Amino acid sequence: MTQHPQHIGAIYSVVPGFEAELAYELGADSALLAEGLLATQAPARPVAWAQNIWLKPEIIPIASIGQAVKELKARGRNWASLSYHLHRRTRLIQDQLPKVSAKPLVFPTPAPTAPLGVFMLLEAGTLLASARTSSPFVGGEPRFVENREAPPNRAYLKLWEALTRLRRHPQPGETCLDLGASPGGWTWVLAGLGAQVVAIDKAPLDPKIAALPNVICRQESAFALDPASIGSIDWLCSDVICYPDKLFEMVERWRASRLVKNFVITVKLQGETDHAAVARFAALPDSRLVHLHHNKHELTWVSSQEALPEYL
Ligand SMILES: C[S@@+](CC[C@H](N)C(=O)[O-])C[C@H]1O[C@@H](n2cnc3c(N)ncnc32)[C@H](O)[C@@H]1O
Repeated sequence: MTQHPQHIGAIYSVVPGFEAELAYELGADSALLAEGLLATQAPARPVAWAQNIWLKPEIIPIASIGQAVKELKARGRNWASLSYHLHRRTRLIQDQLPKVSAKPLVFPTPAPTAPLGVFMLLEAGTLLASARTSSPFVGGEPRFVENREAPPNRAYLKLWEALTRLRRHPQPGETCLDLGASPGGWTWVLAGLGAQVVAIDKAPLDPKIAALPNVICRQESAFALDPASIGSIDWLCSDVICYPDKLFEMVERWRASRLVKNFVITVKLQGETDHAAVARFAALPDSRLVHLHHNKHELTWVSSQEALPEYL
């Protein structure tokens, strides 16, 4: 354990492998609290590279395991724990708290609404706990019962996660444009929800997905599309592989058209992370930029004309 500061405004757990990105995003105010945990004096704010955020951390002196359990129960019902040391003591506390279900979700079951707290022992007699965290999923990791037969690849898990965290998804009859749709995992998700999907890719879709009754395929470039030629749409989804700047220009064109109600856009970041491009997406109004548990070296930008959850 590293030295812990006197006052902690928020704690951010790092997306594994992206420590430098989170440190960059949080700036000079952040300090390493333990492996994979950065603390700030400033209050919590949404950031892209955190897997989970402790929204109101408290340092709580405890004289016994029983007292730790009492203190936690007084603050909230559901708790997950982290242990970097004092593993047995941490487990003894966790075992006396209600069990938190980590059962995988069956999409589109809504995400849990009950707050989930997190605690760890700084020392044998000192708890660090936050009854509120940014994610209702243990460790900030939503898991799903996977479909290993119907979708043509595993990309569908990203869209399942984005829609689950957004707490909203396309409804039957709503219109979706799926850019960079091949081989068709996202189109499969959207069509499965009953939406009308126009799938755009330079490559063909898997024939099984292309044959779905509510799917129209267009083999062309996503960047050449003129929003006015498409008209108003409920969902614009993009998983196109391209440089972030080129994607940003395209997103700006669609935003300016005001024809799109909801966006779910993958921002691909090959090689060195382009911090300036990430910051440009993060600064767009009415939107959130997050690293999904199912994202690799990429982020997901979502935006909506309706109110968004403060933390996805
Ligand atoms: C990661 S894959 C998309 C996977 C897809 N979301 C799925 O669930 O199956 C990226 C896709 O972007 C497509 N792509 C790249 N440049 C494109 C462009 N200019 N216009 C349309 N599609 C493009 C590629 O052909 C590729 O199929």
